[in-house]
Amino acid sequence: MGKLIIFDEQKKVFHLKNNFYSYVIQIVMDKYLLHRYWGKPLREFRDSAALTMMDRGFSPQPEEINHDRRFSLDVLPREYPDTNHGDFRTPAYQIMLADGTTATEFGYNGYRIYEGKPAIKGQPHSFDKAGQCETLEIELISVNNDLKIFLNYTIFPDSNALVRSVKFVNIGTENVKLLNAGSLSLDFTDHDFIRYSLYGGHAAERSLERSELFRGIQENSSTRGASSHQQSPFIALARRNADEHQGDVYGFSLIYSGNFSIRTEVEQFGTTRVVAGINPANFTWTLEKGESFETPEGVMVYSADGLNGMSKCFHNFWQKHLVRSKHVNELRPILVNNWEATYFDFNEEKILELADCAKELGIELVVLDDGWFGKRNDDNSSLGDWFVNREKLPAGVAGISEKVRAKGLKFGLWVEPEMVSVDSDLFRAHPDWTIHSNAVKSSYGRNQLILDLGRAEVREYVIKVISDAIKEAKVDYIKWDMNRHMTEPFSNALPADRQLEASHRYIMGVYEIMEAITSRFPDILFESCSGGGGRFDAGMMYYMPQAWVSDNTDAVCRLKIQTGTSLVFPPATMGCHVSVVPNHQVGRITPLNFRGLVAMCGAFGYEMDICRMSDEDKAEVKEQIKLFKDIRPMVQQGEFTRLKSPFAGNDTAWSFTSKDGSRMAVMYFRILSQMAPEVGYLKLQGLEPNALYRISTFKMPEHAHEVNESYLKSNDIEGKEFYGDELMNFGLTITPALLDFAAYMWIIEKIG
Ligand code: DGJ
Repeated sequence: MGKLIIFDEQKKVFHLKNNFYSYVIQIVMDKYLLHRYWGKPLREFRDSAALTMMDRGFSPQPEEINHDRRFSLDVLPREYPDTNHGDFRTPAYQIMLADGTTATEFGYNGYRIYEGKPAIKGQPHSFDKAGQCETLEIELISVNNDLKIFLNYTIFPDSNALVRSVKFVNIGTENVKLLNAGSLSLDFTDHDFIRYSLYGGHAAERSLERSELFRGIQENSSTRGASSHQQSPFIALARRNADEHQGDVYGFSLIYSGNFSIRTEVEQFGTTRVVAGINPANFTWTLEKGESFETPEGVMVYSADGLNGMSKCFHNFWQKHLVRSKHVNELRPILVNNWEATYFDFNEEKILELADCAKELGIELVVLDDGWFGKRNDDNSSLGDWFVNREKLPAGVAGISEKVRAKGLKFGLWVEPEMVSVDSDLFRAHPDWTIHSNAVKSSYGRNQLILDLGRAEVREYVIKVISDAIKEAKVDYIKWDMNRHMTEPFSNALPADRQLEASHRYIMGVYEIMEAITSRFPDILFESCSGGGGRFDAGMMYYMPQAWVSDNTDAVCRLKIQTGTSLVFPPATMGCHVSVVPNHQVGRITPLNFRGLVAMCGAFGYEMDICRMSDEDKAEVKEQIKLFKDIRPMVQQGEFTRLKSPFAGNDTAWSFTSKDGSRMAVMYFRILSQMAPEVGYLKLQGLEPNALYRISTFKMPEHAHEVNESYLKSNDIEGKEFYGDELMNFGLTITPALLDFAAYMWIIEKIG
C-alpha cells in the first residue's frame, strides 16, 4: 500500500493525500465511482457529510437499483460521468457503439496503486524525476465487456497538483467511436465560487475574467486548432472570501495545445461539475478492436493561499514536473530580436551592426527573426522553403551565426515549421500536403496554409528540413512560431468517417515533430510563439521552456498580459522585450525606464534598433542590463507574487523573491498621474517576520525623470532597515508621482 494513496477496502474509499490536500473517491454498490472530497488534508475520511439521497423528480434510476427512487446518477457527485444513461449533466465522455448507441454503462473493475507515473505516449506529460509520486489507476469495464476505461490519478509529495488522465481500450470485437474523451471531471457539492478564466485576442492575450458561477453551463474553449489567444486552457474556482493571498482556490489546467474545453455546470440542486479535456466539438476518434486512446493530462491544483498560492503551485509544478528542457532552471540570456527593428528589411550588414551594438550594451543573444529564407520579403511567401535567401545573407545564416558568435554573443533563429505559404516551392510541389477539404474553398490566414502534420510523410519532411536548417546555422536559440488558426479541418489522408480526428491528429503531429527536434538539439534554448501568445500552454512548455507572451510590446498593455499569464505560468517562461516608442501596436509613448522595468519581469530582451538610440538612451539601456543581470536570479529562479493587479486599477506591483529568501525585488508601476490621488501602502509578502531587511531603491538615470527623482527622495527609505513583520503589515508608502507611466523598483535584502 502506498504512502500517498490509501484504499480502505471496507468503506471502498480511495484517499489520496499529501501535506497539501486530500482527494477522496468512493465506490458505491461495487459499481459506481463517486467524488467525495477535495480540499485541505484530512487525517482520515470517515464520511461526516454523508451522501443524502432522496426521491428527485425526473431523475431516473439505473435498472439494477430495484426501483429505489432515491438513487439516481443524475444527482450523485460523480468522478467520471457518462451520458444518456441517467445523468443529464455535462458528461466527461461519450462513446458511440457499433450499432449507434450513445449510452454506455461502465462499472468499477479494480484498481492498481504504484510508485511513479505513466508517460503518455506521443504527448507532453508531467514526470517525477525523484520517482516519489504515486499513481492510482482505477479500471472500469463496460457491462458488455467490450470496453475498458482506466482513470489515472498521480499525486506528488512536493506539490499541490493532482494529475489526471484517462485511457480508453477497445477489448471488444467491433469498432467504436469516442465522441468525447475528457481528461478530468469532478463534482463539488455547492456552487459558492467565483470563476476566473483568461480571455483575449491577438496582441491582447490573457485578460482576467472574473464572474459569478451561474446556474447553467459556462465554458472556456477553443476550436481554432490551437489553445489560442482568445481563451486559455485554464479556469479557477475561488471561494467567495478568497483573494490573492488567502482562501481556497481550485485551479484547472490542461497539458494540451489543441482544441480544448473547460466547462463548469451548476445544476438544479446547486452542485457544480467541472469537466476539462479535448473539445468534443470537432472531435471523434475511432477505436478499432484492440486499440486504445489516451487523453491529454489535466492538472488540478488546490491552494488554501488564494490566487497567488494557486499560481505558485502551477509555477513550481511546471518547472519541476513538466518542462523538460535542460534550460528550465538556467538563467535566460538577454536578447535582442530584429523583428520590430527591421521587420523583413534586413541584410547581413544590418544584423551584424545590431550584434555590435548588442555587445556594447551587454546583451547576450542576437535573434534573427522572420525573413531569412526563400524569397520572403513580406509575409506572403516562402514558408516551407527553408533554404537561405542569399541575396539578403550572402554568407548564409551560418555566416552570420559564426560572426555573431565570434563577437562572444549567442545566436538565435526564427522558424515557422508547421506552415506553408501559397507562394512557395513546397506548396507547388505538394499542394495536397495541407489541411484542406476539396468540398469547400480554403480560408487563408496571412496567406498561408497549415501542413497536414497528421501525415507521417509530411512530419518526416518537416523534421528533416528544419533539422538541416538548424544544424547548418549553428544556433543557440530557436523561436518556433505558428501564425494562423485552423479552418476546414480535413485531412486527405483520412477516410470520411474519421475526419473529425484531423485537429487532434494535427496537434499530435506537432508534438511528434517537437519531440524529434528538441531531442535532437538538447542544448538549444527553444521559445515557442504563436503570433505572440497564441499557444501559451502547458503542452508547449513540455518541449520549450519559454514562450513569446504577446505581439503587443506596449508596456502598459503588457502589465495586464503578463499579470494574466502569471496566473498559470512563472516569469521565466515569459518572453518580454523593450520596444521603441511610439509603440508599434498601440502608438503609446512611455518612458524607457517604464518599458525596461516591465520587460525585466520575465525572460528579458530588446526588440528595437538598439543602434539608433540617443547616447542618453544607450546609457540607460546599459544601466538596465546591468540591473537586470543583478536581479535575474530572483526574477527567473525565485518566487513570484502579485501584490497589486492592473485589472483592479491604475497600479500594478509584483515581487520576486530569491530561492533562499534572502533578497526580494519589488516592482511598482503607476500608469497615469491623477488629481487627488490616494497615497498607497504596499504591503509585501513572503518575508520572514523576525528578519531584518535593508532597502535599496533603484535610481533612475538622472536625465530620465527629474520628477521621479524628487518622488524617490521624498520617500527616502534608501538604505533604511526594517523587520519583515513591519514591511508585510505596515508596508511601504507609495507617494503619488507627478507623471504618467511611473515605474519604481526596490531591492529588499535580508541582513539579519
Ligand atoms: C509573429 C511573432 O509573434 C512575431 O514576434 C514575429 O516573429 C512575427 N510572427 C514574424 O512573422
